Amino acid sequence: MLDRKVEDLKILFSKEEIENKIIELADKINKDFGTKDDLTLVCVLKGSSIFCCDLSKHLKMPVQMEFIRVSSYGNTQTSSGHVQAMDLTLPNLENKNVLIVEDIIDTGCTMQFLIDMLCRTHKPKNLKVVTVLNKKIARKIPIEPDYYGFEVDDKFVVGYGLDYEGYMRNLPYIGYFEN
Ligand code: IMP
Ligand code: MG
Repeated sequence: MLDRKVEDLKILFSKEEIENKIIELADKINKDFGTKDDLTLVCVLKGSSIFCCDLSKHLKMPVQMEFIRVSSYGNTQTSSGHVQAMDLTLPNLENKNVLIVEDIIDTGCTMQFLIDMLCRTHKPKNLKVVTVLNKKIARKIPIEPDYYGFEVDDKFVVGYGLDYEGYMRNLPYIGYFEN
């Protein structure tokens, strides 16, 4: 049984706000990458699954979707700072345009790990990062996304891919538990 209930969530970003933001983000990405060259989305499971699918529908270039899985939170609500690689299987991305798709950048440990791994083993032509949420205030590693949806305070947030003990990823909005 979960200690927290969906009814106790305070909404931070509504379904409509998120939908509009995704269109904005896709417009920027379409402009920056152009429509001719293909783009590989590297979706970081499980958190960015919903965002990645929604974003991809608004992209105009030929898109390849790849999925990797890392874990840093476990089931607690504070970042462990330790990144566990669960599945990093990817096709050859040498000389490709690559966009890492994340749900949230918190301490920055996960993103640093992913950027290092991709640059070292894949040597993409162009590597950028998009995240729904930017928890700037919690950063331990100075790393910034190229694109982000919303900035958030140092609160534990759930919904739209982000989980509370494995649940609530399916909520169409993003919220937090008030106390
Ligand atoms: P970082 O390595 O500390 O930047 O943490 C990144 C990962 O931790 C994200 O990809 C999320 O999966 C998870 N995470 C960070 N903050 C939250 C949160 O507020 N709610 C749910 N998951 C979070
Ligand atoms: Mg994540």
